[in-house]
Amino acid sequence: MQEQAVAWRKAGEDIGFVPTMGALHAGHDRLVARARRENQRVIVSLFVNPAQFGPTEDFARYPRPFDADRVRLEALGVDAIFHPAVDQIYPPAFKTRVDPGPLAEVLEGKSRPGHFKGVLTVVLKLFQIGQPKRAYFGQKDFQQLVLVRQLVRDFALPLRIVAVPTVREADGLAMSSRNAYLSPAEREVAPGIYRALKTAAGRFETGLTDPAALEEVVRDLLEGAPGVAIDYVALVDETTLRRPVRAVAGSVLAVAVKLGSIRLIDNVVLGAERL
Ligand code: PAF
Repeated sequence: MQEQAVAWRKAGEDIGFVPTMGALHAGHDRLVARARRENQRVIVSLFVNPAQFGPTEDFARYPRPFDADRVRLEALGVDAIFHPAVDQIYPPAFKTRVDPGPLAEVLEGKSRPGHFKGVLTVVLKLFQIGQPKRAYFGQKDFQQLVLVRQLVRDFALPLRIVAVPTVREADGLAMSSRNAYLSPAEREVAPGIYRALKTAAGRFETGLTDPAALEEVVRDLLEGAPGVAIDYVALVDETTLRRPVRAVAGSVLAVAVKLGSIRLIDNVVLGAERL
């Protein structure tokens, strides 16, 4: 893959890279379509990265519908699919890990220790292999996006990170490969996450700027929902990931919940949502 990518770059062709763990859905389609529009070549990686799963997480049962993913990507006109084996990315001699620093200690990083170390390590390697001019990430994984941007800045990587808005089901549920695990009853409850975020975003529009109060709006709506256990509700600054004194347009309201055994995350950017 790397030789092919280097040859394309030498020929003056821009590469758009979409890193994924497979089990593709319409959210991934949007990333690929954007990459297709903006680059001569598009590479998509399908790699369920063991390094970003904790010991009690769902690595073993993470869906791996490779054939369906390949058909989907071919229909989207990608130039190459990179589907490495685990020991191609992590051969026995592999030793180095990326330390993501303090921004990985909050939100998802606090609940999933080591997760972002695994994400940034694989993303750095994938960038080396795929040689992208642009790489595409969804805004649903907002903290991942912030950390990948930091990786690119800190290591002066010669590429641009393109953020693509979250794609939602008709009822508002953010698309995620994990939605497939939801039972019918959980699936009915799940759109309540985005409804709660939108309600809080609406309260911001009408003048509520106290971060704790905005978080409370979301908590109050989610706490009563059957089967929902809130991990965090956090109003944070979009770059520092710290709670600001006052919410402003651009602040991010982020949520993680467990719905039964399934962990779901979502977020809204205040002042940017269509209400
Ligand atoms: O967002 C994902 O699917 C993964 O975290 C990524 C970026 C492909 C790294 O494994």
